Amino acid sequence: MSANESLGLPKGFELGVATASYQIEGAIAADGRGPSIWDTFSHTPGKVAGGDNGDVACDHYHRYPEDVQLMADLGVDSYRLSVAWPRIQPTGKGPANEEGLAFYDRLVDALLDKGIAPAITLYHWDLPQPLEDAGGWRVRDTAERFAEYSEIVHAHLSDRVTRWITLNEPYCSSILGYGNGRHAPGAQEGDGALAAAHHLLLGHGLAIERLRASGSGSPDQQLGITLNLQPVASVTDSADDRAAADRSLLAANRLFTDPVLAGTYPELARTVYSGLTDFSWIQDGDLETISAPLDFLGVNYYFPSNVVAADYDEPDPARRTAADLAFKEVIADGEERTEMGWPVDSDGLRRLLRWLHDTYPTLPPVYITENGRACDDVVASNGHVHDPDRVRYLEDHLRAVVAATHEGVDVRGYYCWSLLDNFEWAEGYARRFGLVYVDYETQQRIPKSSFEWYRRLIARQHAG
Ligand code: NOJ
Repeated sequence: MSANESLGLPKGFELGVATASYQIEGAIAADGRGPSIWDTFSHTPGKVAGGDNGDVACDHYHRYPEDVQLMADLGVDSYRLSVAWPRIQPTGKGPANEEGLAFYDRLVDALLDKGIAPAITLYHWDLPQPLEDAGGWRVRDTAERFAEYSEIVHAHLSDRVTRWITLNEPYCSSILGYGNGRHAPGAQEGDGALAAAHHLLLGHGLAIERLRASGSGSPDQQLGITLNLQPVASVTDSADDRAAADRSLLAANRLFTDPVLAGTYPELARTVYSGLTDFSWIQDGDLETISAPLDFLGVNYYFPSNVVAADYDEPDPARRTAADLAFKEVIADGEERTEMGWPVDSDGLRRLLRWLHDTYPTLPPVYITENGRACDDVVASNGHVHDPDRVRYLEDHLRAVVAATHEGVDVRGYYCWSLLDNFEWAEGYARRFGLVYVDYETQQRIPKSSFEWYRRLIARQHAG
C-alpha cells in the first residue's frame, strides 16, 4: 500500500476496533458482579485449552484508561465493547447493580472524552449463571429477561451511546453452547440448541421493541444485531454436493438471517431438523417480533464454507445434534490458514456481502463488526512484535469490502477484531488476535506492527 492510499474506502467509512467483556475485563468478583456461564465453564476441567479462564484476562476493568489511550493513539472512530450482563444484574433479574453501571459510565465517558464513539453489544455470551440454572436460552423466560436487562443498560447510557447491538453471534451461543458443547454452557442437545437459537432471536426482537419504544437517548439511535456468517459454496456441481451446501447454508446463515431479515424460518429447517424437534417453542407472533426493522446489520466474517457431500455424514438421528449440520468446510491443499486453522479467503467477504444483498431486499446498511486473524505473535529481542500476516489479512479484507461497495452493497464501517490479545474462549490465551500484544504475566501492552499500519490507514482515511 502506498503512503497516501486509503484502500479506496468510501468517504465517511468508519474504522474501529472491537472487544468483548469476558474476554478482556477480568475482575470477575468486583463491585457486585455475579457469575456467568463462562466463569462456570472455564473453571470446569477440560473445557478450555490450558485450563485458562477469564478471572484476570487483560485486567481491562482496572486498566481501561490505558486501553482507551491506545485507541486514541490509533485514532479509531468507534469502539465496539460489550456490557457484562452479570455486572448489571448479578442474578440475571431484578434491579440494576449501580456499581456495575458505574464502570460502563466511566468507560463510555473516557471514550467520548477522546472523541471515540462507543458501540455497545448487549450480549457477548456471558449469561448470568442463575439464568442458566433456570434453563438458560432453552427457555422463553430468558428472552424476556434479556429484554429487561437491555432496557436498563439502554436507559442508562443512550444519552451518550447511539449504536446498539443486541446479540453477538447467536449461532455460537446456541449451536456451540447447546449443540456440540464447545462453548458455555457446554450442553450437547438437539432440541435445546434449536430452542436456544429461537429464544436468542426472540430476545433480540423483544429488546429492539423496548429500545425503540423507550424514547430515551439521543434521537439518532441505531439498533442492530451481529451475526457470524459465511459464504457457502458447493465444491462441485453434483446434486449431492449442492444439497449438502444447502444444509450448510441453513445451519451457518439462514437459521438466523431468514428470521431476522425475512421473518420466516427456511422450509428446509423443518426437513433437516425433523428428528430433533417439533419446533413447538415457536409461538404466534414471534417471527414478527424477531423481524422488526433494523438500522443496521453487524456482520462478523472470518472464513468461508466450501462443502462436499462426502464430508457430510448424516448422523444417527437419535444421537445427532444441531451442530452436526453446521459447516463442513473443505480446505484446498496449500491454502493458507490462520493459527485457528481457519482458511484465509478475503474474497469470501465480498461474496458474503453480495449474497446478503442479493438474497434479502430488506438488508439494512451493514457494519463489519468483526474481522481479523490469529497469528503466532512473539516479542522480538528488540521488544517489537512484527505481524505482517495480520496486516496483509486486514488489508485484503478491507479491499474486499471496498469491492462489495462497488457492487452496490451499503457497508458503512469496519471493526477490527481485536484491540487486544484476549481470552479466545475454548482456545484460552493461546490464540492472539490483537493489534496490541498483551504480556499476561505483567499486563504490559505492546502495540504490534499491525497497530501502526492501522493507525496510518485511519489517519489517511480522515485526511480523505
Ligand atoms: C467471534 C467472537 O465474537 C469473538 O468473541 C471471538 O474472539 C472472535 N470471533 C475470534 O474467534
